[in-house]
Amino acid sequence: MKEIFMTKPISSLIAETQGDHGLKKVLGPLDLTLLGIGAVVGTGIFVLTGVAAANFSGPALILSFILSGITCLFAALCYAEFSSVVPVAGSAYTYSYAALGEIWAWIIGWDLLLEYVVSSSAVAIGWSGYAVSLLNNIGIHLPKALTLAPMDGGIVNLPSMIIIWAISLLLIAGVKQTSRINGIIVLIKLAVILLFIFLAVGHVKPVLWHPFMPFGFHGVVAGAAVIFFAYLGFDAVSTAAEEVRNPQKNLPIGILATLLICTVLYIAVSGLLTGIVKYTAFAKTSAPVAFALEQIGYNWGAALVSVGAICGITSVLLVGFYGMTRVFFAISRDGLLPQAMSKLSEKTRVPVTATLIFAIITSIGSGFLPIGIVAELANIGTLAAFIIVSIGVLVLRYKKPELKRPFKTPFVPVVPILSVLFCGYLITGLPGVTILRFAIWFILGIVMYFLYGRKRSLLRKELERSQTA
Ligand code: ALA
Repeated sequence: MKEIFMTKPISSLIAETQGDHGLKKVLGPLDLTLLGIGAVVGTGIFVLTGVAAANFSGPALILSFILSGITCLFAALCYAEFSSVVPVAGSAYTYSYAALGEIWAWIIGWDLLLEYVVSSSAVAIGWSGYAVSLLNNIGIHLPKALTLAPMDGGIVNLPSMIIIWAISLLLIAGVKQTSRINGIIVLIKLAVILLFIFLAVGHVKPVLWHPFMPFGFHGVVAGAAVIFFAYLGFDAVSTAAEEVRNPQKNLPIGILATLLICTVLYIAVSGLLTGIVKYTAFAKTSAPVAFALEQIGYNWGAALVSVGAICGITSVLLVGFYGMTRVFFAISRDGLLPQAMSKLSEKTRVPVTATLIFAIITSIGSGFLPIGIVAELANIGTLAAFIIVSIGVLVLRYKKPELKRPFKTPFVPVVPILSVLFCGYLITGLPGVTILRFAIWFILGIVMYFLYGRKRSLLRKELERSQTA
């Protein structure tokens, strides 16, 4: 039984990434920050801000963003230390393998699989909403049956499935093209957000900020638990570790720069949104940023923001998929999932099978499930991953104090402990049914490990070989 806690030596993790098994090292600090912003700014700011303002936070949306942002900052500081010590693909999964042992790595990997699948499904549903509304504006009306999931009154959300398959094919074409396209899209979405800020700032009516907390502080926490989705994805930077030049230095830069830029943008946008339109009005729109500009008379601005949002959400999908396939890749390379998943294409060195499998699962999710269910599950999955990573930093400091840490989380143990507490606090803002669904997924994962992964673990096989030799 002891072997389920065996840890993977960090030197062997790094050796694995060399030679034929490794991915191409092509990404620098700017690529990484663009990758991060590409992963982070999307459905959360463009779609969920309205939901949170109208139903939970009111004008205190800005406080919800600050609460979520602080939570992410603590988690990001822990992520940055882990990713600088263990610069290989796989994100929190790989870090846990080195720090906490195989069973914890599996649990977090299983959790990340859920997180990436459901968040990509949710983002694709958001994309579909903006695309359908833009098409409506230019006179093309798609039938509801083909644009909404069954629980929302349709049959299938076809646009969301189409965008997922388009993204998957881009990824299969190779990482460098993808990151270049991503860079252009990120610039477009930053431009439309700045345009919104520029147009909105002169129209703020401070009276709209009263009452500031119409749903009390509990509303602020519930709102934070929902718009947490807007921050989700910065860890995708660390999942690219194997493809980064000088990861020890560049990964922490990429993660922290992404988080800083996004937090500043979110605070500005959420303050302006509730300052130019009464928060209750957001209940009837699924495109709050464009809607707000229409309300103050900028129809052309609203149209531009819609186009930018579609581009922005596309890049979120692109990076989400990228991270997802790499986590899958890392887990199967260790033998905990079938080896076929870690097979790389000879030409592009992209894990094609993993990409295709995720395209199938994610597109089924987006085609047939409502956005609320998938977004909340994504949030709880991420918060759980953050908690394990933060504990991992503490454990690694205690168990392997001699390790070279190019980036050190400041104020240990305070920051990791605060990270655990803040993540736990946000989880309390989520509905009970989400917590239950997550618990079921968690139990399924444990069963999977004992039925499949435990016996096939490469590390276990190596250990047994060295013991019999
Ligand atoms: N943070 C990403 C978004 O808001 C997932 O779309």
